[in-house]
Amino acid sequence: MWPKKHLTDLLGNEHPIIQAPMAGSTTVELVAAVCNAGGIGSMGYSETPTETIREDAEKIRKLTDKPFNLNFFAHDTPVSKPDVVESARERLKPFYSEVGLSEVPQDVTKPLLTFTEERLELLLDIKPPLVSFHFGLPESNAIDSLKEAGCRILCSATTTAEAIALERSGVDIVVAQGWEAGGHRGSLDVNHEDHGVGTMALVPQIVDAVNIPVVAAGGIADGRGVAAAFMLGACGVQMGTAFLSCPEANVSNVHLEAIRNARDDDTRLTKAFSGRPARARKNDYIESIAAHRLPLPDFPTMYTLSNPLKEASDDTLDFRFLLYGQAAALNREMPAAELVQTLVTEAQNLL
Ligand SMILES: Cc1cc2nc3c(=O)[nH]c(=O)nc-3n(C[C@H](O)[C@H](O)[C@H](O)COP(=O)(O)O)c2cc1C
Repeated sequence: MWPKKHLTDLLGNEHPIIQAPMAGSTTVELVAAVCNAGGIGSMGYSETPTETIREDAEKIRKLTDKPFNLNFFAHDTPVSKPDVVESARERLKPFYSEVGLSEVPQDVTKPLLTFTEERLELLLDIKPPLVSFHFGLPESNAIDSLKEAGCRILCSATTTAEAIALERSGVDIVVAQGWEAGGHRGSLDVNHEDHGVGTMALVPQIVDAVNIPVVAAGGIADGRGVAAAFMLGACGVQMGTAFLSCPEANVSNVHLEAIRNARDDDTRLTKAFSGRPARARKNDYIESIAAHRLPLPDFPTMYTLSNPLKEASDDTLDFRFLLYGQAAALNREMPAAELVQTLVTEAQNLL
């Protein structure tokens, strides 16, 4: 049925289609629907309390007996730079006035959202079949323990060098994330200049450089993209934006409407909301912050400055952080199981 079975053999599922983890937008219903349709559903976690993650895993296991993925950010501890915070506060003052807010917050400290010991212990207890990471990996002993507990490890790479480093660190599957992708860039070193390698160039180079299964991500929206990923040497795909239009996803009306009207050129990479590059729908705030090239507080502390703007802007696009990728205009609105089946039929016909 599929030209390469490395991924499905490793994961023990039917179709090499991973619904991407999308913190805030993925739900247990979405994950279970994708898994029951033969794909791999993924929950994305950032600030979610550890106990909620345990409850989610229990719910998923009640809804499906198929393998699923839990995803975490593994990023550096943010460094507090008072001059950077102060200049960002100054820059944001006019935007605060525009939405009727008076004071830009002084304190930008935020609870650390990185992969904690508590989360590791939870995962060793609940043993999800798959654990994936974005922004790099936690300490090597955490990876070793997860693998000993039977979890398969996935991690995003945005360059061939990153993919090689991940393979050396013991990752089982590398997700080659091209420039087209919606959401945060999974770059391992956020300070390294990002030359924005696209999916078409990235996937075959990573396939040639590593011996572990490679999953293509970024701009894959329909069966043509899935089939193309196989032609590039990948043995599966990870798709995020396409699943945002499923009724099981947690997506606001303004986000859904933006996707309905999406064009190939209406997103850009921005640090204006989180402090780390992410592909989101353009708006004046994003363009203005980009034009000033101002250093911003580290991820995730920048959220402390941007969240009040987002909350005060109601249903307008002005201060919204609407994550989606360059192929969003190809989205189709249908239940997740139907989307998986449609992708399978389209891709297999082409292959
Ligand atoms: C709304 C949204 C949120 C995302 N959040 C996460 C996340 O929490 N963890 C993660 O590993 N990747 C996240 N991503 C990136 C995806 O893993 C994947 O790289 C991307 O969706 C692929 O490109 P596509 O959106 O064109 O399909 C997110 C993507 C989107 C669109």
